[in-house]
Amino acid sequence: MSVVWDEGMSVGNPLLDSDHRILITVLNQLDDARDTGQSREVVASVVNVLAEYTEHHFQREEAIMAQAGYPHLAAHAALHRALETRVRDIRARWQGGDHGALGDEVVDVLRNWLTDHIMVVDKSYGPWVRNVGCGTREGDGGQ
Ligand SMILES: [Fe+2]
Repeated sequence: MSVVWDEGMSVGNPLLDSDHRILITVLNQLDDARDTGQSREVVASVVNVLAEYTEHHFQREEAIMAQAGYPHLAAHAALHRALETRVRDIRARWQGGDHGALGDEVVDVLRNWLTDHIMVVDKSYGPWVRNVGCGTREGDGGQ
């Protein structure tokens, strides 16, 4: 089942919203690739994009939180490390021929993790990071 990004998922920062849209798109592509029975190579390449974009996005998000002086950066970053480890593990298992690595349950967990993370954890930094790193005004310090 696809997830659709909507304004209700906005964290108030266009760069991070754009990243979140891309991550959701890649996750939906992963779902499509599995559902339509694409080859292992095709699915592997989508998993690869998901893993790499996840890491790229988390680095950007953490840099923006640091720039904004967000006080809960360490705890947030720890959640990112946990998901990165999980996605790398899934990628390694899939590349190693483990077809169970991308079962429905695994993809459901990834989807739920990502949407919950954006809707709850990422939204909590929203007031700090509004437009930080976007070449417009600075964050408003949590107002
Ligand atoms: Fe995050």
